[in-house]
Amino acid sequence: MPEFHKVAKTADVVEGKGTIVAVDDLKIALFRCEGTIYAIRNQCPHMGGDLGDGTLEGDIVRCPWHGWPINVKTGQHPQAPVVAVRTYPVRVEGDDVHVAL
Ligand code: FES
Repeated sequence: MPEFHKVAKTADVVEGKGTIVAVDDLKIALFRCEGTIYAIRNQCPHMGGDLGDGTLEGDIVRCPWHGWPINVKTGQHPQAPVVAVRTYPVRVEGDDVHVAL
């Protein structure tokens, strides 16, 4: 059973950009797409860039290091789905964002 961790306030996660949070040593990137918040591992599968600092267009974040695209809903590269980062379940309770690890 995954354990939910409170990681942010809903107001911290805005449309169009990522928010990087940490649970212990694990960095997670939060994104809001059309009102829904998604959580993926922050580390790019290419060379470890911070996906949460990338630019978001629709549901695709572009890594700030070399531009690899990752779908924030699935964690997958759109053209090569085998290339992926982990996604995490998100639960919103009031003003708080919880992520399950
Ligand atoms: S580290 Fe993300 S594209 Fe290279």
